[in-house]
Amino acid sequence: MASTLITGANGQLGRSLREIAGKLPGTLHFTDIGELDICDKSALNEYVKTNHIDIIINCAAYTAVDKAEDEPEIAAMINSRAPGILAETARENGALLVHISTDYVFDGKGPRPYKESDRTSPTSVYGKTKLAGEKAIEESGCRYIIIRTAWLYSEYGNNFAKTIIRLAKERDVVSVVFDQTGTPTYAGDLADAIAEVVSHKDDPEFHKKGENRIYHFSNEGVCSWYDFALEIVERAGIKTATVKPVTSDQFPSKASRPAYSVLDKGQIKNIYGLTIPHWKIPLKKCIDSLNNNR
Ligand SMILES: NC(=O)c1ccc[n+]([C@@H]2O[C@H](COP(=O)([O-])OP(=O)(O)OC[C@H]3O[C@@H](n4cnc5c(N)ncnc54)[C@H](OP(=O)(O)O)[C@@H]3O)[C@@H](O)[C@H]2O)c1
Repeated sequence: MASTLITGANGQLGRSLREIAGKLPGTLHFTDIGELDICDKSALNEYVKTNHIDIIINCAAYTAVDKAEDEPEIAAMINSRAPGILAETARENGALLVHISTDYVFDGKGPRPYKESDRTSPTSVYGKTKLAGEKAIEESGCRYIIIRTAWLYSEYGNNFAKTIIRLAKERDVVSVVFDQTGTPTYAGDLADAIAEVVSHKDDPEFHKKGENRIYHFSNEGVCSWYDFALEIVERAGIKTATVKPVTSDQFPSKASRPAYSVLDKGQIKNIYGLTIPHWKIPLKKCIDSLNNNR
């Protein structure tokens, strides 16, 4: 009987995995920093041993992209060193590690959707620390699957969709950059993809062809943050605010972000037979559920 550990389980992705718990294998152990700090090697090892964990899904991360510029050491501990600790623990206990990374490992100068094999060149502390986390896992010798995702949003925590709804209710004009292009990812869709991937853990065929690789996952389609914001405001039925397109120069932020970070999802779709919805479809679902709970 499988036993699955989900770390960082109070975050957006962790909460979305709780929502689809029935699709995950075996006994589920949802933990966040209060119960299990992923930086604590001995606590982690003991937890994994005691609970006979054979799948670790790491949703824990330092995700404050701008703040990371001022706290590079904390970001590195959580995003770079802790994944190495998780990987060592997975190797020592024969567990499969599923780890989440980011489109911010790219510099955004690419001319087409990024493939997993494309050159990485992060421009922010967050991107650099996440890339170092990937490398620590790849070098560990554990069984792993790394999924890079982008522009994650959900009903939970703080995210772009919830911020835009709040600002659109407070202001007449909401300025949003139109010169950064990517694809939103609904955390519920990523959670479903993770469930599909881990369902093949004991299949020798997938063990060979599916594991020890990096995948890209977002929803389908392409948009700018401005397009995304416009759709959010329309879907939320807010008629009092105008969404105004601005350039990144007009909207300076501490961390530099890729101008173009569309991810090519061909590999995960081919290997795991996934059909991924266009980004506008789950957005409607998410906003309906936010509207129903307000
Ligand atoms: N959010 C995005 O737009 C985005 C985009 C691309 C990739 N990703 C990646 O997707 C994954 C999930 O992101 P998310 O948005 O769900 O993140 P999130 O909402 O920030 O959740 C992360 C969770 O991890 C917890 N955590 C932090 N340090 C920990 C530690 N040492 N031990 C255990 N738990 C710890 C956090 O607790 P506290 O809140 O108390 O710190 C939080 O509950 C991350 O790997 C992230 O890098 C996110």
